[in-house]
Amino acid sequence: MSEDILGLNRHPGDHHYRAFVGPSVDYDLVSAMAFGLLTACGLRQHHRLLDIGCGSLRLGRLFIPYLNQGNYVGLEPNKWLVEEGLRYEVGDSLVKNRSPSFVYGSSLSGWEGKREFDFAVAQSIFSHTGADLLLQWLVETADALSESGVLFATIIEGAEDCRDSGWIYPECVEYRIETISRWAEENGLQTQVLDWYHPRQTWCAFYKPEFDPGVLNGGSPSWNHFGSRAQP
Ligand SMILES: C[S@@+](CC[C@H](N)C(=O)[O-])C[C@H]1O[C@@H](n2cnc3c(N)ncnc32)[C@H](O)[C@@H]1O
Repeated sequence: MSEDILGLNRHPGDHHYRAFVGPSVDYDLVSAMAFGLLTACGLRQHHRLLDIGCGSLRLGRLFIPYLNQGNYVGLEPNKWLVEEGLRYEVGDSLVKNRSPSFVYGSSLSGWEGKREFDFAVAQSIFSHTGADLLLQWLVETADALSESGVLFATIIEGAEDCRDSGWIYPECVEYRIETISRWAEENGLQTQVLDWYHPRQTWCAFYKPEFDPGVLNGGSPSWNHFGSRAQP
């Protein structure tokens, strides 16, 4: 792969499909981290996944081939990122065989596709949302998940809550876990902070009432824990 495809000399936020979504040197690591977490927490091929702010398919490039046809939905306001991700990371044959679908915008409102998602993921999204937008995504995700659904999202923990509004990028914002947990609970979601390595952020699970939190292993999910309780 050429260096220009990898974007190793670009800065986060540069107009390059890998660099735009974060440090290019970590592109592979972030793919693996998210795929490992969701599969260790029970994601199977028959589940339906919503990838909020899917960008250039850094996560989608692993989830799209894994999931059954039609079970991956990505939401992304910057269409060019999805187009380049499909071109350079996914390819025509997987697009044909797995039929991922995309919502080009900043909200699910007005989208008429099937909701009832089993899993949702928001990787490096709440690290860029002002309070109004973070709340919007908690409301919309709670509505889009099935009653046994779960959202895995990354946040940057801070001593104080961000007071800005809207989308803040490429700068990052911080929140207190207590604040986000309270907002989640007000929208019918329980919060579990997760011990799952991220180079810059903290993973959390936000789950609906019928989700079985046992798979989260008290905040320390692992493949072996999943395997010890997995149904064949
Ligand atoms: C840091 S990147 C992360 C992309 C992807 N989740 C990943 O981990 O590779 C943030 C993404 O959120 C998208 N975005 C911008 N505004 C958004 C919004 N209001 N809601 C959701 N995503 C948004 C950006 O275009 C960008 O693709």
